[in-house]
Amino acid sequence: METIIVNNPEEGAEKAFQLIKTAIQANEVKTLGLATGSTPLKLYDKMAHAALDVSEITTVNLDEYVGLAKDDPNSYHYYMNENLFSKVHFKETHLPNGMAENLEEECANYEALLQANPVDIQILGIGTNGHIGFNEPGTSFSSKTDVVELAAATREANKRFFEKEEDVPTHAISMGIQSIMAAKKIILLAFGAEKAEAIKQTVEGAVNVDCPASVLQQHPNAIIITDKDAASLLTGVSSR
Ligand code: F6R
Repeated sequence: METIIVNNPEEGAEKAFQLIKTAIQANEVKTLGLATGSTPLKLYDKMAHAALDVSEITTVNLDEYVGLAKDDPNSYHYYMNENLFSKVHFKETHLPNGMAENLEEECANYEALLQANPVDIQILGIGTNGHIGFNEPGTSFSSKTDVVELAAATREANKRFFEKEEDVPTHAISMGIQSIMAAKKIILLAFGAEKAEAIKQTVEGAVNVDCPASVLQQHPNAIIITDKDAASLLTGVSSR
């Protein structure tokens, strides 16, 4: 695992953008794994303004809330359309369907989609509790795409996007940890002091399910891009 400490989120987004752009221009990306939340917004803005040819690239997203329709402004479908897909035209884009009648079947189908489209680069954010996707602390490292219950800390963190706290969904469909780890390359972005403890556990803590992102220490090609605030509790790494 490589850790890159940047001065601010702008620099972090630029670093991630350059890594992705270089890989796309070298024809190394057939499938791009995407995340939602605040963290990748600057990166998506850069992608939206770059004249990159992504017409042969398929995207797969990490997760979607259960019970939110695609046109619900809080759904991740809506977020992706607003922030990227309406501006950048990929070959195909996929997110789990949180409105599926049979959620178990939807998870199995999504996992099959991931098998058919192995992810070349996966972008990740991180929860304040160390979650990746919506794999909360305690999730098995061998988990695949599944219906997951959101931790209280996650619902608390995400309530800022909703009108009322009780509107925050309790469940989501999320790629599992094993599904995420199958990506050839992983780029995790973390910005802000509220991520500092999670980044410390991820980079310097023991690899265990209490901090799901710590599993990235076992990935052969994972890069953590963190700003100074999120890196503030790290003791043993150097900036580059
Ligand atoms: C989003 C996702 C989550 C977020 C994490 C951080 O698709 O899977 O793991 O990356 O909750 O969210 P923000 O970026 O809003 O701090």
